[in-house]
Amino acid sequence: MPLVSMRQLLDEAAKGGYGVGAFNVNNMEQIQAIMEAARETKSPAIVQASRGARAYSQDNFLYHLMLAAAELYPEIPMALHQDHGNSPETCKSAIDLGFTSVMMDGSLMSDGKTPSSFEYNVQVTREVVELAHAKGVTVEGEIGVLGGIEDGHGAGGTGLEHVTDPEQAVEFVEKTGVDALAIAIGTSHGAYKFSQKPTGETLKMDILIEIHRRLPRTHLVMHGSSSVPQDLQDVINKYGGKLRPTWGVPVEEIQLGIRNGVRKVNVDTDNRLAMTGAIRKVLWETPEKFDPRDYNKPARDAMQKVVALRMTQFGQAGHAGDYKPVPLAEMAKRYAEETVSV
Ligand code: G3H
Ligand code: 13P
Ligand code: ZN
Repeated sequence: MPLVSMRQLLDEAAKGGYGVGAFNVNNMEQIQAIMEAARETKSPAIVQASRGARAYSQDNFLYHLMLAAAELYPEIPMALHQDHGNSPETCKSAIDLGFTSVMMDGSLMSDGKTPSSFEYNVQVTREVVELAHAKGVTVEGEIGVLGGIEDGHGAGGTGLEHVTDPEQAVEFVEKTGVDALAIAIGTSHGAYKFSQKPTGETLKMDILIEIHRRLPRTHLVMHGSSSVPQDLQDVINKYGGKLRPTWGVPVEEIQLGIRNGVRKVNVDTDNRLAMTGAIRKVLWETPEKFDPRDYNKPARDAMQKVVALRMTQFGQAGHAGDYKPVPLAEMAKRYAEETVSV
């Protein structure tokens, strides 16, 4: 199946009342893990690459791996998404390369660190919506700022410093016409999200529910949604790692979000933990090994297991065959005719 727009995947998810995991990739093994999990669970797939991932893998390597995935898994509808685009230029370069969806993260300035003004965010996001929709490409925006910092991206601090204001969220969607809206409700990127199991004080599901009440037709996105499972932490620490005690976002909270308009759920850290644990185990138990396949294969299998579990928990399992891909040119026509609601 060709790469499809993320908007189509999210519209279908809204119809079916489920969420779709968006998993980050940097290399071939991670793409393979997602595609195998999608096949195993019959799920649509969102594969996303950060700026750091694009720089690490080089655009063309990454894009051609995705084309290989489309060729090898024809039954899986999948979108290729730019995660946390820091500027219209980054989003444009992703669209030119063939990404079918982009995130314009105007919640931060283009340095990827400094929280921006509402006006700046509206301006850059609107600019990306215009250029992306003309090509049928989906746009995700962000209002509010997540906590933490990953690979230089993020304002740092706790997730509670810039929680999304529901009234501003409505104004942002009206002024930009985004297809999907990322909101800040107390989560952070990376492994260190909460120092104990989150409560309503630290993970603001009430804000999410209020935003959904005010924007019932907008696809909401939960970033920083790794659950940081204790068993994955334990494997790393058992085999020489040094993770500090930490808590992630419980899956039941994500499921509550999905019942309240969340259609895209961003997960990267859980897969990083799973792969690192698997690699540490092999190298610890069999220090004589030096063939990268001896640890990359267990790492890939460990990631597949996490992704398949999340696909099942988010409800996307079983939905790969529900629909036929709408070509990007047709999506562009629909945006121009305003038959896609924005
Ligand atoms: O947004 C954060 C994702 O986990 C991507 O992280 O920028 O280190 O590739 P990265
Ligand atoms: P995690 O660090 O919780 O996996 O979040 C990933 C993310 O939000 C990518 O944009
Ligand atoms: Zn994110």
